[in-house]
Amino acid sequence: MRIGVLTGGGDCPGLNAVIRAVVRKGVATYGHEFVGFRDGWRGPLEGLTKPLGIAEVRGILPRGGTILGSSRTNPFKIEGGVEQIKSNLAEQGVDALVAIGGEDTLGVATKLHELGVQVVGVPKTIDNDLGATDYTFGFDTAVNIAMEAIDRLHTTAESHHRTLVVEVMGRHAGWIALHAGLAGGANVILLPERPFDVDQVAGYVEKRFQHQYAPIVVVAEGAQPLEGQMVLQNQELDSFGHVRLGGIGQWLAEQLEAKTGKEARTVVLGHIQRGGTPTAFDRVLATRLGLQAIDAVNEGDWGKMVAMQGTNIVRVPLVEATKELKTVPLERYTEAEVFFGS
Ligand code: F6P
Repeated sequence: MRIGVLTGGGDCPGLNAVIRAVVRKGVATYGHEFVGFRDGWRGPLEGLTKPLGIAEVRGILPRGGTILGSSRTNPFKIEGGVEQIKSNLAEQGVDALVAIGGEDTLGVATKLHELGVQVVGVPKTIDNDLGATDYTFGFDTAVNIAMEAIDRLHTTAESHHRTLVVEVMGRHAGWIALHAGLAGGANVILLPERPFDVDQVAGYVEKRFQHQYAPIVVVAEGAQPLEGQMVLQNQELDSFGHVRLGGIGQWLAEQLEAKTGKEARTVVLGHIQRGGTPTAFDRVLATRLGLQAIDAVNEGDWGKMVAMQGTNIVRVPLVEATKELKTVPLERYTEAEVFFGS
């Protein structure tokens, strides 16, 4: 078979590990051929390819980002997009696709599968918000980066008797905030799943100062105050209809400074959480998903997504992955609340 591989949506550490595993096993065990499509769905849409063989995947295991490039292109928003993809695949002699992506990329893969394209999906996102898989690679790396930042912020916050508000990514799911906050010993963690009361947060901050320690508040970019409007930097929508989140950290720091009378500063971790080398956990997970994906392709098990359930790598219908967002259950949040303000 000649198999096309693409990576779509926001990049994350571990994408190259998947590409490497797919190509290495595909060539060595099954004798398949590969072609890389550049920049997510833009690749098959515009016929943008890149050679992809054993030589191209050597040395990429620890590398962040994606050697194939990525974009948030939605072919269903482009007139004639699906026909264009089908004709480019035929022109390139491509029999099947491995699509590595999150909610949006896999949503496109699901619809293309329904329209007859032979595709297998691999889940990725630092947000860890895809259904049907317990973890996505990229998440562990992002959490570790955020944890290290929080560790460093504790010492400087204490020296200056300041509140430090750390804004982390995660879109509409609070997984990064919850895990980084717990691992880094944050004094308050705020998630999109649970609107917060700013006076209560100010109370936690004051309590922490009373213990002669400086408070660290971890806030997810999608968190919202009670009955308030979400604080957005930008109202523009991308081609999948997502708003760009960000700005809640700055707003919250201003509120806390005004309410407590203590200086409060904001650190927005942003794309630092998506860059650089993957952790061992993410490299292993990405590799195992890649190996399972090429097995699925080889067996012609189309319309499936490979997933981690417990410690096993399994296959689930693609449609399961994107049916609903996997958000933080309330009981996981209340577990963390015991540390707030202390
Ligand atoms: O989905 C991954 C993610 O990093 C989100 O956490 C964040 O909201 C978004 O992508 C940022 O997207 P972009 O890189 O397009 O600004």
